[in-house]
Amino acid sequence: MSTATDPDPRAELAELARAVRAHVEWLVASGAAGTPRAERPAAPVEHAAPRVEATAAPVAAPAPPVPRPAPPVVAPAPPVATAKPTPSAPAPLPPVPSLLQEPIANGAEASASKHVALEPAERLRRLDVLAETVRACTRCALHAGRTQTVFARGTGASRLCFVGEGPGADEDAQGFPFVGKAGQLLDRMIEAMGFSRDEVYVCNIVKCRPPNNRKPEPEEMAACMPYLREQLELVAPEVIVALGATALQGLFGTTEGITRLRGRWKLYGGRVPVMPTFHPAFLLRNPPAKREVWEDLQAVLRQMGRQPPKR
Ligand code: URA
Repeated sequence: MSTATDPDPRAELAELARAVRAHVEWLVASGAAGTPRAERPAAPVEHAAPRVEATAAPVAAPAPPVPRPAPPVVAPAPPVATAKPTPSAPAPLPPVPSLLQEPIANGAEASASKHVALEPAERLRRLDVLAETVRACTRCALHAGRTQTVFARGTGASRLCFVGEGPGADEDAQGFPFVGKAGQLLDRMIEAMGFSRDEVYVCNIVKCRPPNNRKPEPEEMAACMPYLREQLELVAPEVIVALGATALQGLFGTTEGITRLRGRWKLYGGRVPVMPTFHPAFLLRNPPAKREVWEDLQAVLRQMGRQPPKR
């Protein structure tokens, strides 16, 4: 029987969760989770550094670039499965190349510099290999309901990357992310920033459509995150825009609301600035929120050394 002096187990649990979260955020913010990127010259910055979320410690000054040997060339892509496995069969891990054999973890443990020594053409080739691997993926239950996987759009040579939640019906049918109504709005946002549609890289947390457009389950996100991490390392964008709460959850493991987090810079893998903002599907339902999104996108442009266009 508990007494008045017994510790409240729920309070203890909450305290423990707060301590773990603060530690992980500190790892991300301090760069302790990886080494800085060195492959691209810094964009001319004509403004203050982004406000990066750091709960326990200030963001560490970047360490000098660490020369790394080129990673071994990946094995050729496995043959694409033509028949879908039976739903009852256990989902085998595909013979994924290179880093995808790593244990699943959240963005705090990702390193964006693993491919620092790769030539651009080799990065693109590896992205193609990765897309083939994803095409055959059966790592979570979502594979059973998909028409096809939805890997990305954009060249992979992009400096700016948008990360959404997961494919909807239009994306599942066409095989590309953000091609439905929300995608058309995203395209207008991209154009308003002064980019062409194909100049940016667009991808999702999960590569298969969740049934009835529901939010992906945590285990589905966890199963798919190694693909996104590899994608982001190969594309090596200068800035990532996280579209909505699910994108943030996938990248950082946070379940905090997007309303609180939007407009506040975070660091992915300890080094890539991420701007959280509202998902275009939310904007379709709440057009007044476009004003805040435009503020966020202007901050992204400034971070990239671009003058935001007048509107
Ligand atoms: N919503 C997303 O998050 N991703 C898409 O690809 C389409 C709609």
